[in-house]
Amino acid sequence: MAKLCVIGTGYVGLVTGTCFADLGHRVTCLDIDENRINMLKNGLMPIYEPGLKQIVDQNVEAGRLDFTTSYPEALKGSEFAFIAVGTPSSEDGEADMQYVKSAATSIAKNLDHPTIIVNKSTVPVGTGDWVAEIIHDLNGQVTPKFSVVSNPEFLREGSAVNDFMKPDRVVLGSTDLQAANKVAELYEALRTEIMITDLRTAEMIKYASNAFLATRISFINEMANICETLGADVREVARGMGLDRRIGPAFLDAGLGWGGSCFPKDVKALAHMAVTHDTHPQLLQAVMDINLNQRRHAVNKLDKALGGLQGRTIGVLGLSFKPNTDDTRHSPSLDIIKMLLAEGAVVQAYDPQAMKASKAVVPALELCQNPYEVAQDADALLLATEWNEFKFLDFDQIKTNMRGKVILDGRNIWDGEELQRKGFLYFGMGIPGSK
Ligand code: UGA
Repeated sequence: MAKLCVIGTGYVGLVTGTCFADLGHRVTCLDIDENRINMLKNGLMPIYEPGLKQIVDQNVEAGRLDFTTSYPEALKGSEFAFIAVGTPSSEDGEADMQYVKSAATSIAKNLDHPTIIVNKSTVPVGTGDWVAEIIHDLNGQVTPKFSVVSNPEFLREGSAVNDFMKPDRVVLGSTDLQAANKVAELYEALRTEIMITDLRTAEMIKYASNAFLATRISFINEMANICETLGADVREVARGMGLDRRIGPAFLDAGLGWGGSCFPKDVKALAHMAVTHDTHPQLLQAVMDINLNQRRHAVNKLDKALGGLQGRTIGVLGLSFKPNTDDTRHSPSLDIIKMLLAEGAVVQAYDPQAMKASKAVVPALELCQNPYEVAQDADALLLATEWNEFKFLDFDQIKTNMRGKVILDGRNIWDGEELQRKGFLYFGMGIPGSK
């Protein structure tokens, strides 16, 4: 059992801290946001993440997990201090490091015993060295021994708890092998592959992994668009490709493109790092362009199917960037809705978790209570996020409620032939007849 603290209670910090507590460690989670900490102290979750509340409650009750806004309290007796704060990106993609800097500075000011500082935030390559410098510069000769270890996270929103407990690998980077081995011990119970490398390589593994996954999705979306023009079915193409063990089936679902707080930020940041070091990130640029075009492509399909968007009512199912989250950051659904509104359409939508957040970003959006209300008097229905509750709908009821008959299945989850038989004009992404 180790004592550790986690700085930042966003997706990464809260899930990491809670899961470490669940593995038997003693964890204090710190956030400078008092509201957040008060919510957590009162058993309320600041984010929607399946399964998280239950294990937070269990571990608080067991006395292994608590919350604070005080650095001295969090660092007291902690052998490890995890930094898991946000690194939002600026317009040109450069990561905003103010929160990492302030966490490192606060650690430095309160460091009174040997501590291993573990960086979990996704940070530009070289940040580990920079954090070490900040702590040295502030404390000079009197600094108690400390080491910096990079430990990138590979958690997906919506399945973060499961991803923590059943990782494909744990990556650790440090110049101090002893410190990296100590962090490795924290993960021992997970019985997973633990890779130890140098700091910069560990930081790069995170960017390269996200960029590669984003590349796979943009690749299959480009294939989908080619399939549409050639009359092939991208779902079958992806299946046929995925059966090749060198390729594998994951992340080959064509659709409206990728969103969220990670891929857009990380691909852009990696491209920015490359450019600022005189490298031309050709592929990354194309991956981002294809992703943005995919939203426009969906709007064009609706435009063509309806013979214009001005004054049309479009019902949209799903607002979050993917299912099982309330996160709407860079959501393809919201981007498409903004384009539809700009073209003069009326948009009515429903999402199981992300309605409030969406209305705040797109005030002109009309919210509905369920999919059938979304269909009411709609000229077209767009499936934008593949929540489970949208998979099996009563399409006879939807047909009765709709004014028009156009369906754009942006995530290819429905049986197009059956919907055609019911009298809908069905379009998918990369499916024959969907151009
Ligand atoms: C992603 C990575 O998958 C995690 O490994 C990583 O830790 C995380 O970013 C991060 O850097 O923090 P996440 O953003 O939660 O996780 O979401 P994903 O499940 O990876 O999906 C990203 C986007 O790709 C979603 O918009 C999703 O709809 C889209 N997607 C995914 C597709 O369009 N097609 C696919 O086949 C798969």
